[in-house]
Amino acid sequence: MQRTLGTCYYPEHWPEEVWEEDAARMAAAGLTWVRIGEFAWARIEPAPGDLRWDWLDRAIAVLGQAGLKVVLGTPTATPPRWVVDKHPDMLAVDAQGHPRKFGSRRHYCFSHAGYLEECRRIVTLMADRYGRNPYVAAWQTDNEYGCHDTILSYSQAARAAFRDWLAQRYQSVQALNRAWGNVFWSMDYARFDDVDLPNLTVTEPNPSHVLDFRRFSSDQVVRFNRAQAEIIRARSDAPIAHNYMGRVTDFDHYAVGDDLDIASWDSYPLGFLENVVGAGDSHKRRYTRQGDPDFQAFHHDLYRAVGRGRWWVMEQQPGPVNWAPYNPAPLPGMVRLWTWEAFAHGAEAVCYFRWRQAPFAQEQMHAGLLRPDSAEAPAMDEARQVAAEITEAPQVQPAQAPVALIFDYEADWAWDVQPHGAGLSYFGLVFEGYRALRRAGLSVDIVRPEAAALTGYRAILAPGLMILPNDLKAALLETEAQVVLGPRAAARTRDMAIPAALPPDLPGIDLKVTRVESMRPDMPVPLAGGGAVTGYLDEIAGAGETELETETGQPVARRFGVLTYLAGWLDGPGFDRLVADLADRAGLTLRPMPEGVRIRDTGTERFWFNYTDATVTTDAGDLPPAGVLRQPL
Ligand code: GAL
Repeated sequence: MQRTLGTCYYPEHWPEEVWEEDAARMAAAGLTWVRIGEFAWARIEPAPGDLRWDWLDRAIAVLGQAGLKVVLGTPTATPPRWVVDKHPDMLAVDAQGHPRKFGSRRHYCFSHAGYLEECRRIVTLMADRYGRNPYVAAWQTDNEYGCHDTILSYSQAARAAFRDWLAQRYQSVQALNRAWGNVFWSMDYARFDDVDLPNLTVTEPNPSHVLDFRRFSSDQVVRFNRAQAEIIRARSDAPIAHNYMGRVTDFDHYAVGDDLDIASWDSYPLGFLENVVGAGDSHKRRYTRQGDPDFQAFHHDLYRAVGRGRWWVMEQQPGPVNWAPYNPAPLPGMVRLWTWEAFAHGAEAVCYFRWRQAPFAQEQMHAGLLRPDSAEAPAMDEARQVAAEITEAPQVQPAQAPVALIFDYEADWAWDVQPHGAGLSYFGLVFEGYRALRRAGLSVDIVRPEAAALTGYRAILAPGLMILPNDLKAALLETEAQVVLGPRAAARTRDMAIPAALPPDLPGIDLKVTRVESMRPDMPVPLAGGGAVTGYLDEIAGAGETELETETGQPVARRFGVLTYLAGWLDGPGFDRLVADLADRAGLTLRPMPEGVRIRDTGTERFWFNYTDATVTTDAGDLPPAGVLRQPL
């Protein structure tokens, strides 16, 4: 498949006279896609029922006639003021009980029935009008579900919907009381309508209550997105995407993705660096103009799973952004590197955000491919270079990786509800495992927590799966791959209770977690032979062969045939040892990477990426700063 490039454009921000020239310049730069429309509701419908499609008709025609393919966004992330006036209680409410007011974006509660109806109406009108438009070649639903912390809402609408959700799940309030253990602290309810949302309680609410609220909130996003996808699908054959985010795990992306054709995500490597889990200040200084060497790849691999193989980067950082604590400019070459890295991981398209920097409103400080005066910004040259390269160079041939890493959204919520130690997060744990696999030069597929996703791998890393359904448990025990499970594997039932037989309760395996402890991050427990446990440790009893232990002889990794139980959160060197053992048993070749260099194997090539600002000598030759190298396999 020919990889393609694109950009995000806002015709409503610019005088109509410049559209044609903009379109011609996009096409001349080698761009294929142009995403529009996702924030334009107030220009499409300035007052209830007053529909102004004329400008959007013309914008689509101008872009299409220049040879570009349009990705049309539904405008539901930015309901105009009149929608809020019509439905004043549609605003989301934060955990402190404050409404999240009009004046920016994403000011809606997923549970509000009236707002959902408004969305159905505008999406129907839009799909009726453009569903068969020859220039509209893809759709995007809404924009970045979860951006600005907008999944959890403590509104009246959410409360009513949560009660219904609970009634359907538990059928009787006695069953709910039993499942949650409400006898503790006299929290029993007499009816579902007694159940409130889990905020503003005196001390922490019941973890079972919070976990169910997280599941409910995720289901509300799935429902909201499905409503739009069904309307578009009935009116258009063009594929439907949503643009997900980095490091946002507040809803089940797999479940949303199942209603879509393509997963896409918005990649801002420098913006993300300050928030990257586990990265200290020296790491941030070192990669300030390049981004973390594993963070983008992690999301590429994750969204490939969310999109069931089809995925894009819908927004690619082109220069300094406006929203991180510090907003440096990328090292020359990085925009090209980020783009090629996405392609190497299987992206069909990479679109730069945004075409032209806006001189007004919230994102004045956000670079685009063009400056506000329409002159080229530095990223433009790199985009043009990639455009030339993708037409001349061989096609990327994706292939299944030898190693699978399971990522489970529910596990992330369970850790969040009950982290046991400050700063411990499931995402952080999985990401540490991913980093270690990549430092070892292994290509990784991130996979869903489903038995069917596990076929064909030589090694499977499944850290932190706190709630482990029986079929997945069985699949992990039956696979011929080498498997690492833990810490906190099957630590809770689906009701968020400790299992009666104690975790991990693996059939046929003599292993019990008898005690758990969390520790200050500045007090690592050294492992015999190098590396350490930091932050979290399961105390385990039973049989098995010890693979890693603390200096005082406490087991940290125990092997039972092809299964290894990992009992602690390892530091980098500890994870490197675990991965080296895993690769060895799985018959995989270790290729320890020079610092800041990463590889990704496709079916025919090995891609090399240099995230450092210096030339690095590798097995494949010298890699300049921000260098990309393609080596035939
Ligand atoms: C994304 C968002 C865009 C824009 C961009 C700025 O999160 O989807 O609309 O705000 O960030 O970096």
